[in-house]
Amino acid sequence: MKKLCIGIICLLVLCLSGCSRGAEDPNIQERIVLGFSQLGSESEWRIAASNDIRRAAEEADIQLIFDNAQQQQFNQIRAIRSFILKGVDVIAFSPIVEDGWDNILEEARVAGIPVIVVDRKIETAQEDLYAAFIGADFHGEGVRAGEWMVERFARAEGPIRIAEISGTPYSSPTIGRYEGLREVLRDYPQFEIVISHSGDFMRSKGRESMEFILQGTPDIDILFSHNDDMALGAIEIMKERGIRPGIDIAVVSVDAQASGLVALRQGQINCLIECSPYAGDLLMELISNIVNGRPFVTYTYTETRVFTDRDDFYALPVQYRLEDIIVAARIEPHYTMRMR
Ligand code: AHR
Repeated sequence: MKKLCIGIICLLVLCLSGCSRGAEDPNIQERIVLGFSQLGSESEWRIAASNDIRRAAEEADIQLIFDNAQQQQFNQIRAIRSFILKGVDVIAFSPIVEDGWDNILEEARVAGIPVIVVDRKIETAQEDLYAAFIGADFHGEGVRAGEWMVERFARAEGPIRIAEISGTPYSSPTIGRYEGLREVLRDYPQFEIVISHSGDFMRSKGRESMEFILQGTPDIDILFSHNDDMALGAIEIMKERGIRPGIDIAVVSVDAQASGLVALRQGQINCLIECSPYAGDLLMELISNIVNGRPFVTYTYTETRVFTDRDDFYALPVQYRLEDIIVAARIEPHYTMRMR
């Protein structure tokens, strides 16, 4: 019995010393914990962005605490505060609007947790309230949309009447695309932006915006939509009113997600400005650099390409697999075979 007791005690001592050695062993790295606040799930783009972050975190072996704020800034602030209380290693968030983040970022700074702003930009009193930014050049997207209009309508007589369906008010993509378009058209007085209406980046609100526009604004030549979802909603309304999208009204949109590319292929959208939602790998690399004290890039911009109805459908960006586009278009399987 005495021998048995000594054996058990030895085993316990071995176990305990083994445990504590493991915790202190500098060769055993703990997983980085990332708290990510996503602003919502308003669009195909947003869903692709969220999925990409989940995939990239898993592949990088980073523990992800993901929160969807359902389009509300106060939900984002609450989520960020909960990440601070949990003591995560790093916080990242896609801010719904530009303003109103200073206090919560100050709380993160006091807690010593670095913050990365993803996708949309913010306005802060002090730029050093966040460590880095990854996202698209929204102003450049508006510029590209304007340049396409100028080129495609080069021989048209003015006035060329533009209707705009903008995104969420006070958000950085809305502000950037709005200003970028106007910057180009300033030098071409034959173009007139006759109406601008917010569709909040949602397909249903894109429908409502187009209905509103058609009720009071005749002779629209071009529709500029701040994203594909709203463009697709607007296209539905045009068709219901006997207007041929892409022919009677030229359609220019931003995102170039799968359903937008289908509409481009079908001739219902004339020009798509790419806004890539695939920032996951860049984000995980940035996080690893920040947490491990390595040098890192503070501002990273994703690529923007322009696709038009005159492009080759087969020269699509690699990340948009043909299968995704076929699913988005609900094309019959036999047609799928022919497309390959
Ligand atoms: O912030 C990026 C924008 O937000 C995308 O263009 C839009 O589709 C999304 O909802």
